[in-house]
Amino acid sequence: MNTTVLYPLVLFLHILGAFGLIAAITLEAIGLRGLRRAVRSDDALMWFGISRGLVLRLAPASLGLILITGLYLTATAWGPKGWILVALASLVLLAVIGALGTGIRMARVGPALGPASAGPLSDDLQRALRDPILLTSLRTRLAIVLGVVFLMSAKPSAVVSLLVVVLATAIGLLAGQIPLRRSRNELRAGVG
Ligand code: HEM
Repeated sequence: MNTTVLYPLVLFLHILGAFGLIAAITLEAIGLRGLRRAVRSDDALMWFGISRGLVLRLAPASLGLILITGLYLTATAWGPKGWILVALASLVLLAVIGALGTGIRMARVGPALGPASAGPLSDDLQRALRDPILLTSLRTRLAIVLGVVFLMSAKPSAVVSLLVVVLATAIGLLAGQIPLRRSRNELRAGVG
């Protein structure tokens, strides 16, 4: 297949990867909201399945698709432009924030939510599920992804691209400090 036919197809797959990434972030947000409200192990386990089980499949698959197709688009038409290099570095940043901010914490909580542990969640576990870093990690990654989508659309210079990602990271970190509206369960736990 020649490049004129293949290029739009690969671009389509690249954009599909971006949709997948946004879907993974949305699922993580829904799962995290459920986990923050859970007071019983079985509830927490269900939300954990959404927040981790699905996300851990969808996010790497989407990132892989974005990367492979992005490299093809770059090699065939664009070359190493500033906005592309910054986007590549942003993918690494996304992985690092996801692993350090969320992955490590969830890996610790996961085994404690095993099917054997039915009944009310311990205070420690509830506190771990409401760790504010989980929210900051999620919002920062969302802001960076939106920043990269801006780079992809506007294709600015390297300096502007870097500024966009730094600004997006700062906005995400700040947004992470805004608490979610507390549910009745959380308020009760806070008083008790
Ligand atoms: C979070 C990561 C990324 C997202 C969400 C994303 C999303 C997008 C979107 C929506 C477009 C379409 C823009 C348009 O056609 O005007 C696009 C284009 C493009 N992307 Fe990405 N991308 C990401 C990362 C990357 C990476 C890492 C590379 C390179 C290795 C890359 C290479 C490209 C290229 C070369 C185009 C231009 C295609 C064209 O306009 O013909 N992208 N990207």
